[in-house]
This record gives sequence, C-alpha cells and structure tokens, in this order.
Amino acid sequence: MLELKNISFQVDEAGKGKEIIRNVNMTVPDRKLIVVTGPNGGGKSTLAKLIAGIEKPTGGRIFFGGEDITDRSITERARMGIGYAFQQPVRFKGIRVLDLIRIAAGRNLNVADACEYLYSVGLCARDYVNREVNASLSGGELKRIEIATVLARRARLSVFDEPEAGIDLWSFRNLIDVFRHMRDTIQDSSILIISHQERILNIADEIIVVKDGVVERQGSRGEIYPTLNAGAAALATMECKGRILAAEQEGGAE
Ligand SMILES: Nc1ncnc2c1ncn2[C@@H]1O[C@H](COP(=O)(O)OP(=O)(O)OP(=O)(O)O)[C@@H](O)[C@H]1O
Ligand SMILES: [Mg+2]
Repeated sequence: MLELKNISFQVDEAGKGKEIIRNVNMTVPDRKLIVVTGPNGGGKSTLAKLIAGIEKPTGGRIFFGGEDITDRSITERARMGIGYAFQQPVRFKGIRVLDLIRIAAGRNLNVADACEYLYSVGLCARDYVNREVNASLSGGELKRIEIATVLARRARLSVFDEPEAGIDLWSFRNLIDVFRHMRDTIQDSSILIISHQERILNIADEIIVVKDGVVERQGSRGEIYPTLNAGAAALATMECKGRILAAEQEGGAE
C-alpha cells in the first residue's frame, strides 16, 4: 500500500514560491487499479514524480508498505518495487530495446520473453528488439516501449502516466486488454494510471480526481465516474453557450 500524507510541493517561480501540490492525502491500496484524472495542469504528473522519487516533497511524508520512503532515492524506490512510466519517455542512446527491457525486468529474460512484452503493447517485436532507443524511434513507438519496460518490471506498484498519449487506436485497444488482464490477475501489487481516457476510467477500481494541486474527490468508480460525465457535460454546455454568446456579440457589432 502506498500512502501520501499531507504532501505539498512548492517550486520557485520568479523568486516567489508556487505551490503545485497542496496538502494531498491519498492512498493506493494493494490489489487495486487506481486511476488519477483531472484537468490539465492539475498536478497529476507531479504527484507521480513525487511517488517515484523524481521530485522531493516540500512537506508531508510518503509511505510504501508501511515504510517511510520520503528520503529514499529513485533507485531505492525502484528496488523496493515502484515502477514508473513517464508521460514523455526519455531516449537512451546506445542501448537496445532488448537491453532496456532486461534492465527493467531485473531478471534474465530471453528474447522470446522480452518480445512478449513488446507484442502486448502492439509492437511487432522482432522489428524492435535490436533497435537502439534513440531519436529514430517515433513518439508512439517510444511510448509503447516505455510501457513494455514497466510491464516487464512486474513491480509492486506500477505507475503509468497517460499511457494513451500518442498511441494509435489499435495499440490502445491492446493496451486496455493488458491493463484489464493486470487488474484481473493482480496479487500483492497495485496499479496507478494517470489518464483522461474513458476506457481506462472504465476499468478502474477507484478514481481520484486531482485539480488545482488538491485531491478534489476520491472513491469507487461507481461513485466518481458519473460525476465526471456530469462535469464534462456541464463544461461543454458552458463552452457552447460561450461560443454562441461570442458569435451573437460579433454579429451585433457588425
Ligand atoms: N518544475 C516546475 N516549475 C514550475 N511549474 C511547474 C513545475 N512542474 C510543474 N509545474 C506546473 O505545475 C502544474 C502541474 O503540472 P503537472 O505536470 O503535474 O500537471 P498534470 O496534471 O500532469 O497536467 P496534464 O494533464 O497536462 O499532463 C502545471 O501548471 C505546471 O506548469
Ligand atoms: Mg501530466
């Protein structure tokens, strides 16, 4: 289980402190698939980075399996079982896809096993295992390779930041099946997915809404999902009314 207790994260912006995450309390229980959603810029990726240890909180503590990991490094947290897939993955010049998957897995994977992970994210593995993880890979390919490495890690907690970003519809369908399978066969682990996608929200056990640096609401999919649709519909109506008003004003000004 992962627990965030009163987590805050402040950055320095033009000499002034800007609070991106404000006093967040959040729990990711074992054997659950949790989806974090909410508007752009709300603080979701920052939360994921705080969990993985890429950023350090300016307030509060983080516990993993009951242990305080707030001062633990990225590597230590990875060793303890936290796997993390970036929203925008990084390239590694000089490293082959196969090496990357093997490093992530931390065990002696043969080529066929490594290929399985690539297939599951919709990549024709034979074409990719020996490719270098450099700029020649497309954004979508890179993103899928990154997801494959986290799948290979079989971590106690797997964090995926917008796995849908830049991924085509066909591969995305595959990916949903992979996540669903992960959820159905989950044992002592948990999955945290940051997403805006309805299909991913649909397979969540729990949904957490993060907005303006705070957890706006958290609950079961049954509780939260209908409120998201209502919110989105209200927003669409407001935007639509706004456009009509603007068009009327423009028309009136002529
Ligand atoms: N190092 C930083 N310095 C200044 N501002 C930052 C920094 N990191 C994040 N921010 C700001 O904090 C806010 C939250 O960013 P974050 O990337 O966590 O949002 P998000 O919820 O993941 O959004 P999206 O849905 O667009 O991915 C944004 O307004 C962002 O510009
Ligand atoms: Mg983000």
